[in-house]
Amino acid sequence: MATRKKAKSKLRATKSKAPAKKSASKALKSAAKKPAKRAAKTLTKKAVKASARKPAAKSTNGNGVPRPSSMPWGQAGRALNGVRILDFTHVQSGPTCTQLLAFMGADVIKVERPGVGDITRGQLRDVKGADSLYFTMLNGSKRSITIDSKHPQGKEILDRLVRECDVLVENFAPGALDRMGLTFEHIHALNPRMIVASVKGFGPGPYEDCKVYENVAQCAGGAASTTGFREGPPLVTGAQIGDSGTGLHLALGIVAALYQRTHTGRGQKVLCAMQDGVLNLTRVKLRDQQRLTHGPLTEYSQYGEGVPFGETVPRAGNDSGGGQPGWILKCKGYESDPNAYIYFITQAPVWGAICDVIGKPEWKSDPDYATPVARLPRLKQIFDTIEQWTMTKTKFEAMDILNQLDIPCGPILSMQELAHEQSLRATGTVVEVDHPMRGPYLTVGNPIKLSDSIADVRRSPLLGEHTDEVLRDVLRYSEREIEAIKTSGAVSAAEKKEAAAA
Ligand code: COA
Repeated sequence: MATRKKAKSKLRATKSKAPAKKSASKALKSAAKKPAKRAAKTLTKKAVKASARKPAAKSTNGNGVPRPSSMPWGQAGRALNGVRILDFTHVQSGPTCTQLLAFMGADVIKVERPGVGDITRGQLRDVKGADSLYFTMLNGSKRSITIDSKHPQGKEILDRLVRECDVLVENFAPGALDRMGLTFEHIHALNPRMIVASVKGFGPGPYEDCKVYENVAQCAGGAASTTGFREGPPLVTGAQIGDSGTGLHLALGIVAALYQRTHTGRGQKVLCAMQDGVLNLTRVKLRDQQRLTHGPLTEYSQYGEGVPFGETVPRAGNDSGGGQPGWILKCKGYESDPNAYIYFITQAPVWGAICDVIGKPEWKSDPDYATPVARLPRLKQIFDTIEQWTMTKTKFEAMDILNQLDIPCGPILSMQELAHEQSLRATGTVVEVDHPMRGPYLTVGNPIKLSDSIADVRRSPLLGEHTDEVLRDVLRYSEREIEAIKTSGAVSAAEKKEAAAA
């Protein structure tokens, strides 16, 4: 971390060298010829081929369980090889889920509306004519096929896809999938093994028909009422706990359903409501709500400040949620750097070390400071004193000193610092991939590390980039049928217009 400031922006350097952007059709052609550059090149070509659709290990030890693979670690394919996903997701929550499954080896076929695609392709665009980072960072390692789900031929193609896939994932507004004719009953009749996984804003109840975006979920799931400072309004967080958080929950549900299918032979519905997902992530505050009935929340600063508690869990600023008092403290340079801060936890077992390092050894034996209970009413004054010390150090200097003493602390890292953090690049958590329309961009790779399933992080697909490929290779349409499908308007908005004009 110490070398962070010196690290040059590889991204910026490569970006400025990036060739002028190509036309969409040229880019499509060259992208089709050249397979996308893989960020993680750990798999050998042979291993990838071997694991493309079927799991690697075939021989069994007699009870149906494969014998342990003798392939080197990380070269036996990926965890979800053989799983094919019909990805009907858009915006963030659903795409997060399917991208994770793709990183783990699933063949994710993203179905998009012809000519338009996922609405995020065009949202918050930073490079004219290129898919936005919003889209590219949530749709890596997937294939894209365009299908008009309301076109009769489009419906036929979708039915065929349902037969060929293991999981359908969607996060449309309530009822939209049914209106396309893709009811669970219809899907189950076509493919009883199909798992149908959905994100909705709310579960069954008074709000079940509501459309929901990230911040609505943060508010309805209890995060906003417990975030911010006591004297200020509720706050939403930058972490997308409603969208990406629910996508994560859904991915777990899908993997569990896939496993249960190995016993039952049938698929099932998986539903994750964003309100439920946020509440799950905010569960410590529901804990505190119940504790409130038995007395004040002593680890909250307001207890030490003598401010009485009301009937509901208050906003706790930067108080530590885990019962080990903590706060964000200024570091050297805070006057000009908005992120020159450190999170400092006064963990009880290292209290002596804290006293020594900040130059207050007398606190170790002073009855007003020596025990966690004695310290609770004095937290503000204690943190003010610690801050006098942290302000003499940069956040990284403070980190180095405190870590050696086993004092839990963490620098406030800016997005700029994270983008250049070499250790995150080394682990594949931050990955640079190339894109035919925008050049190199950074994305977040798989944050879940499996030792025998190395993440496959590829750039996001262009709109409809794999339409022909999926129609031909997955759905086994002949070339003549593909031509007919194209002129029907079921997969291509532009050709639909041309056909109508002819
Ligand atoms: N071909 C034809 N029509 C398509 C299509 C395709 N390939 N893909 C989508 N559509 C249609 C849908 O059928 C729907 O039409 P209908 O309402 O006439 O039935 C329409 O596009 C729009 O879908 P909808 O989901 O309502 O989009 P929206 O932009 O109005 O709402 C959300 C967006 C996110 C608010 C909403 O989808 C939602 O609440 N989703 C569930 C919660 C969620 O995931 N929220 C987080 C998003 S990050």
